Amino acid sequence: MLITIGLQSFSQKQTNSLKQAYAPYFKIGTALNSSHIEEGDYDGMLLVRKHFNAITPENVMKWELIHPSPNQYNFALPDAFVKLGQKDSMYMIGHTLVWHSQLPQWVHAITDPVQLEQVMKEHIFQVMGRYKGKIHAWDVVNEALNEDGSMRESVFYKVLGSSYIAKAFKFAHEADPDCKLYYNDYNMVVPAKRQGAIRIIKELQAQGIPIHGVGMQGHWNLNWPSLQDIEQAITDFAALGITVMITELDITVLPNPWDLVGADVNQKFENSEKMNPHPNFLPDSVDILLAKRYEDIFKIFVKYHANIDRVSFWGVHDGVSWLNDWPIRGRTNYPLLFNRNYKPKRAYKSVISLVKQAENK
Ligand code: G3I
Repeated sequence: MLITIGLQSFSQKQTNSLKQAYAPYFKIGTALNSSHIEEGDYDGMLLVRKHFNAITPENVMKWELIHPSPNQYNFALPDAFVKLGQKDSMYMIGHTLVWHSQLPQWVHAITDPVQLEQVMKEHIFQVMGRYKGKIHAWDVVNEALNEDGSMRESVFYKVLGSSYIAKAFKFAHEADPDCKLYYNDYNMVVPAKRQGAIRIIKELQAQGIPIHGVGMQGHWNLNWPSLQDIEQAITDFAALGITVMITELDITVLPNPWDLVGADVNQKFENSEKMNPHPNFLPDSVDILLAKRYEDIFKIFVKYHANIDRVSFWGVHDGVSWLNDWPIRGRTNYPLLFNRNYKPKRAYKSVISLVKQAENK
């Protein structure tokens, strides 16, 4: 009798948080913004510590913020992020080294290939070097592709050609040889774009340049992408012999202006009542759809857990999601597992009960 009670309480403890419930499958991550890093969002940090074992800085390591002018590096918040992660034994992912967005004007203005390569190298060495042996993995290159799989016309591509990607990964490997190096992008479920990513990965592999994984950003909605496309994307990437990460997972429940899909931060639209239908609370009907959608998606992740190292949400709770301000400013969105009062939603319950059921089989 005593033993049974003991086992029951142990089992409850094991599945009482996302990170514990999913420990046999993959890491569960989240993105921290400056209010978490500075410990301003106390309740948010309680959720982070209880439920997540991997953290990514949502903004503070982006080039524009960490390296705003040629000789200026802002390491205060990134240092605080790393300190916090070390204290709580978190797996830490650096985000991101080479990205066309949030890039300061002085980098956009470079036209000389030799200079740009040098600047990129120095940036990677300075930033990665500072956190060598502390940050476990980096999104080395972010969003290098157009939707049709061709190369995005970023300053890096225009000045250095497509070889900038190989150079960035080579510099990253030199800066911290033990660090895991990833390519990260959205809409990887779209076959044409995925082919572009596969091309990039194969080119690096052919040159013997280390790439350890691919981050599939999960900026999805209640109906898109199809479960088949998610599954296909995971298996296509796994076939390349690299690890798959689901990064930046969130599921918008709001209308999509002009049927926009993806996460191009440059696209913005006007707010209206029609576009912001749930300003005060999430109706049960939608909450149920969201819970079912998360359940269906996590079933796939669990199925392919041998290929998936981490599933990271893009934000801790609904109140801090970037989707409240994109692609329309000032809306009230509900894309995550925890609500604005830091309470688990139905979607949390569907995600966690999925692995509890598996355990009981
Ligand atoms: O910090 C300033 C604040 O001082 C200012 O008053 C305010 C007014 O606009 O802006 C604040 O900066 C905002 C920043 O987020 C911090 O909240 C920027 O305007 C805003 O553009 C920025 O958005 C971020 C976006 O990337 C662009 O960098 C989002 O938080 C962040 O979630 C989003 O994350 C990206 C990933 O890095 C890459 N994949 C897509 C994903 C979603 O766009």
